[in-house]
Amino acid sequence: MQLSPYTPGEVAREVPGREAQLQQIGGMLTLPALHGRFSGRIRVDVGPRGVGKTSLLRRVQEDAILLGLAPLYVTAGNGPLAAVIADEARTLVGEWGAPSATSDWLDRLSVTLGVPGIAQVTAETSPGVSSPQATRAFRKLLEKMSKEALNQGLKGIAVLVDELQDADEESLRTIAYAWQELQGSKTPAVFVAAGLSHTADVVTAAVTSAERFQFRTMRDLEDHEVREALTQPATDLGVRWETPALQEVVQRSQGYPYAVQLWGDAMWQAAGSPDRGGVIGAESLDEAQNSVNQDMSALHRARWSKASPREREVLSAMAHLGSVDVVRADIAKALGVTSGALGTVRQSLLDKGIIQIAGHGLLSFTAPGFIEHVISLEDR
Ligand SMILES: Nc1ncnc2c1ncn2[C@@H]1O[C@H](COP(=O)(O)OP(=O)(O)O)[C@@H](O)[C@H]1O
Ligand SMILES: [Mg+2]
Repeated sequence: MQLSPYTPGEVAREVPGREAQLQQIGGMLTLPALHGRFSGRIRVDVGPRGVGKTSLLRRVQEDAILLGLAPLYVTAGNGPLAAVIADEARTLVGEWGAPSATSDWLDRLSVTLGVPGIAQVTAETSPGVSSPQATRAFRKLLEKMSKEALNQGLKGIAVLVDELQDADEESLRTIAYAWQELQGSKTPAVFVAAGLSHTADVVTAAVTSAERFQFRTMRDLEDHEVREALTQPATDLGVRWETPALQEVVQRSQGYPYAVQLWGDAMWQAAGSPDRGGVIGAESLDEAQNSVNQDMSALHRARWSKASPREREVLSAMAHLGSVDVVRADIAKALGVTSGALGTVRQSLLDKGIIQIAGHGLLSFTAPGFIEHVISLEDR
């Protein structure tokens, strides 16, 4: 009996299908790491929940460390972002045992950036307020942290931010302006982030010149990538997937990474947690389907409960239109309203990660099985 190597709801150990992203981001990491240069663009990978953003960002963190960069990894939404990054920098400098002069300047900058719990925050530097002082403080933070990283024998710093859509506007401005001011400098720093699909809207609402940000959409996995995600962890443990079972699971998980992991895990359990030399076969499909259904319906219920009555009407209309990608105008027609009237509801459903833009004028649900869930609610 071997423990399941699959990771439903946890950071993925391997990220098949993300080679292109890792290569592009890797190129950005080498600017500070190999060339001692500032990476001028802020890269943001966006997509719905469960598509694999955090797993990608964690892999970027590993790559950054391998390249000799000091990672400042934070999750937005938990206080003003610029302050959260400053706080992480303080922690790192503490771990390095840097000279006390270094901690002192960091403390001073942190006060300006509104890090709670250190010294008193003065009126002109209240938390989260974007101001020339805050921008200067954040720029200095990046410069001095990079310098201190070099003192530690490292190559520079990598700022890594997850859930960027939850960042406060002031911090986004502070960060964007500071990044702007550092263009072309020798500060060895790079910024990589991840966020839900509407992150670009949040950023452009906060920052007038958002062209420094580079948004890239993360897609579901292709069939061959799903096969790799399923077979590789098993192969490593000497366990083989039989082809019919594999084909069936590839089809049923629909390329949604979270579902792929749920399926892998459920098949592993249903096959009796095989030992080396064991196989995973089609006889396990029914039991696994049962288990996946329970987990997926928990996810569907959670999403449905987050939707307002008006949003639920739109979701029902989408479900009844029946296809995977739904034409926006058809939803409006089904509800007897104009397409424009759907604007706010559509936006909040995007913000909640329940639906995604599937192409021009097209919308789809982000989780497989949601259509069936919505329709089953009406049968009760
Ligand atoms: N490239 C991938 N291949 C297979 N599974 C993945 C991949 N990336 C992530 N996962 C799995 O998908 C689920 C969601 O991953 P996570 O990184 O938390 O997504 P997000 O941050 O977009 O919500 C997790 O169970 C994770 O193990
Ligand atoms: Mg995540």
